[in-house]
Amino acid sequence: MKCNLAVIKGDGIGPEIVSEAMNVLDAVAKKYGHEISYKQILMGGASIDVHGIPLTSEALEIARKSDAVLMGSIGGNTSTSPWYQLPADKRPEAGLLSLRKELGLFANIRPAYLYEELKKACPLRDDIIGDGFDMVIMRELTGGLYFGERSTETIDGVRVAKDSLTYNENEIRRIAIKAFDIARKRKKHVISVDKANVLDSSRLWRQVVEEVAKDYSDVTYEHMLVDNCAMQLVNNPKQFDVILTENMFGDILSDEASMITGSIGMLSSASLAKGKFGLYEPSHGSAPDIAGQDIANPIATILSAAMMLRYSFDLDKEADDMEFAVKKVLAKGYRTVDIMSEGMTKVGTKEMGQKIIEELE
Ligand code: IPM
Ligand code: MG
Repeated sequence: MKCNLAVIKGDGIGPEIVSEAMNVLDAVAKKYGHEISYKQILMGGASIDVHGIPLTSEALEIARKSDAVLMGSIGGNTSTSPWYQLPADKRPEAGLLSLRKELGLFANIRPAYLYEELKKACPLRDDIIGDGFDMVIMRELTGGLYFGERSTETIDGVRVAKDSLTYNENEIRRIAIKAFDIARKRKKHVISVDKANVLDSSRLWRQVVEEVAKDYSDVTYEHMLVDNCAMQLVNNPKQFDVILTENMFGDILSDEASMITGSIGMLSSASLAKGKFGLYEPSHGSAPDIAGQDIANPIATILSAAMMLRYSFDLDKEADDMEFAVKKVLAKGYRTVDIMSEGMTKVGTKEMGQKIIEELE
């Protein structure tokens, strides 16, 4: 198979971790006889440095014409980086948001599970962890507060800023369908998270989720208020299989969910459009404080590349192989510093990539 990828290495640790993911992909391609081509494009801070804007139309077109986008992470330190002196629409994040909107990446899948091997890194009590947890957050990614009308003005001498949260039923329906489809392949339970006791958009969200649920009699579902969900995630994470939620709630809850796994450096994510196109990136940020030191954990990016093979190219066997290689490397005791514990062998970014490739071969 031929896979034409656009690659955004990004900022901070992005270039190091993406390079390892590309090395692993090359090894998989060699093993199974696929051809992977990469077109690197700039987005985020790296693009601002070269072009003055976070995403050029040329870069966007290359991404659009590719089969899938593999990405590191973007942005710098929000208090010290010069990028954050720029107006909001010129900052690194603006590039990511227009990429999501322009490419129609409405469904963001963020798995959060406890690795047996990394249980000790989980900040929750043993009696809460039990035999572990395994959930997927389905976050709506191209609507809501992120893309609603906004303004800042002075009215009668008083500064006023406004953001608005709008959803139409079609936007809700398509993400709900994705969530129920995914639940069907898992433990068949959807928890839809909203703030229906306050927000109109949440009340519509509930109605549409109930309509969609009618087509999935094999999947159970419930509604949960977002504040309660934030609490339940640390109180009883085992109850969650698929969490379905809107953009902003999903942003917040997915950080919380990744934190309780104790290994944010391990978690992948996919942002999918209609059809097979998707953008794949680690769930974590660009960690500028540790950039360029060969200590960042490349596993989340490598697992995101595995998700890409699975969702955009239907290469399940290859994706399984990559995921299994990661598990074997962990089982052999190799750890980057973020997941290091007593008795394990500490390795750097490059060595971790190399170990995973060895397991593939
Ligand atoms: C994420 C990030 C982005 C978001 C930022 C970088 C705009 O936090 O992917 O979760 O808020 O969606
Ligand atoms: Mg976030």
